[in-house]
Amino acid sequence: MPKVSPSLLSADFANLGRDVVEITEMGADYLHIDVMDGSFVPNITIGPGVIKSIRHLTRTPFITHLMIDNPERMVEGFASAGSDFITVHVEAKGDVGESIKRIRQSGKKAGIAVNPPTPLGKIESYLPLVDIVLIMTVNPGWAGQKFIPEAARKIAGARKIIDEESLSTLIEVDGGINEETGAVCAKLGADILAAGSSIFSAKDRRKAIEGLKGL
Ligand code: DX5
Ligand code: ZN
Repeated sequence: MPKVSPSLLSADFANLGRDVVEITEMGADYLHIDVMDGSFVPNITIGPGVIKSIRHLTRTPFITHLMIDNPERMVEGFASAGSDFITVHVEAKGDVGESIKRIRQSGKKAGIAVNPPTPLGKIESYLPLVDIVLIMTVNPGWAGQKFIPEAARKIAGARKIIDEESLSTLIEVDGGINEETGAVCAKLGADILAAGSSIFSAKDRRKAIEGLKGL
């Protein structure tokens, strides 16, 4: 059964602390934190300061999804702010290998993220070096977009490599995840479902989390 990682991008930023406490008490396995820089993606969200200010509210691990160029310059800041996992995009400007190295040196778990148009071959060599692979099923920038089924096929490819090579790399999927699309991803071999709008806009958020966990 998959684990669930609610994406804070769909939380109420005016009441962020309240939402963090609520969503983790409702059984979130991880919190997915979307960081955008207005360069790698055409939107700007939050930085290390916000992560630091919510860190004391919960023990739930933070998966920080860096949608930023040159992440190697910033990963230490996100590590000391309280991230547990830090993922960088293979498509971003900068040095992926150096980012992974610096994340590990900071004592955190490292991840590689891949956009819908990018083939799995571009991240294959990183799979043994990371703790988590983040497969995007929307083009990053905003919450509430439509799931791209072709992008989800990469889950099966990653699962095969991870199993054949007996790696412990986790597969997280992100973008347009609800019970229907989440079921597809779980079947293809995803370990963690990140979901923003389907959880935060649900009438009953606890039920939405439980629904995804039960897939
Ligand atoms: C997209 C972000 C996602 C997004 C998920 O740029 O990386 O994490 O917030 O939101 P939903 O689940 O609404 O697609
Ligand atoms: Zn994300």
